[in-house]
Amino acid sequence: MADGAQGKTALITGSTDGVGRAVAQLLGREGFRVLVHGRDQARGDALVAEIVAAGGVAEFLRTDLAYLAEVRHLATAVERKTDRLDILVNNAGIGTAGAERLTSADGYELRFAVNYLAGFLLTRLLLPLLRRSAPARIVNVSSGGQQAIDFDDVMLTRGYSGMRAYCQSKLAQILFTFDLAEELAGTGVTATCLHPATYMDTTMVRRAGVKPWSSVGEGADAIMNLARAPALAGKSGLYFNGVNQAQANAQAYDRDARHRLRTLSLALTGLAPG
Ligand SMILES: NC(=O)c1ccc[n+]([C@@H]2O[C@H](COP(=O)([O-])OP(=O)(O)OC[C@H]3O[C@@H](n4cnc5c(N)ncnc54)[C@H](OP(=O)(O)O)[C@@H]3O)[C@@H](O)[C@H]2O)c1
Repeated sequence: MADGAQGKTALITGSTDGVGRAVAQLLGREGFRVLVHGRDQARGDALVAEIVAAGGVAEFLRTDLAYLAEVRHLATAVERKTDRLDILVNNAGIGTAGAERLTSADGYELRFAVNYLAGFLLTRLLLPLLRRSAPARIVNVSSGGQQAIDFDDVMLTRGYSGMRAYCQSKLAQILFTFDLAEELAGTGVTATCLHPATYMDTTMVRRAGVKPWSSVGEGADAIMNLARAPALAGKSGLYFNGVNQAQANAQAYDRDARHRLRTLSLALTGLAPG
């Protein structure tokens, strides 16, 4: 068991597949109680069985993040299951494939809803638990694929493409991370984000018809670095490319844009303004 993992809990969204699955396995091996999340019961159960067979502790929480009501249920389920949350990895996501504009159950552009807004809501609902568990880390799995948010058409009703929707949602995660880091300064809860690795061999990359360039292990190590590395304890409001600190799209450093996104997101999720 790695240092300091005993009695600690980690939640990894979208851990029924891809890099999230690998991170859940690594955290399980380190001794974390792992809350596996996804929307496929069979694959969730299979991963839990694997972690348990390797001597770990894990449970599966099934939620479709395309429903904000389900995101709320997920937060409640987490609060019921654990009195501490040391690591939250917002990893679940939909890739770039598909030319058709899709919407979530709440009527929002689907990638904005699943890749960004669900994580925004989940994180905000879990903040009291995270604060009580400090030091705790929030890691948002974004991407190097980033496109500035068009605040006049956030739901991409014009000029839609799967790539644009993906890149906008990924930059929204970064704006959220930087905004949250500022809000959480001094609480012992940190927020960081990253591009894990380029074109890992995962379902979303294969679905996009791209030949994988890197392994899931490489991306998982980069996420583990932000979630676990002692050198990054207390570090917050940073964007990483793999294991190196990097610069994100300029909009992420625009305080007005971050404020605008927060105000919009609070309204879209029905949360009271903070
Ligand atoms: N692959 C890359 O090269 C790459 C590069 C940069 C960033 N990233 C980021 O890394 C993260 C993981 O990507 P990956 O490549 O590992 O993808 P993946 O293998 O396709 O896995 C995505 C995970 O998210 C879950 N998910 C998708 N939609 C969901 C929904 N509506 N509700 C609940 N769960 C949902 C999936 O569940 P199902 O299996 O049920 O769909 C799966 O567990 C994403 O945020 C992605 O943007 C990936």
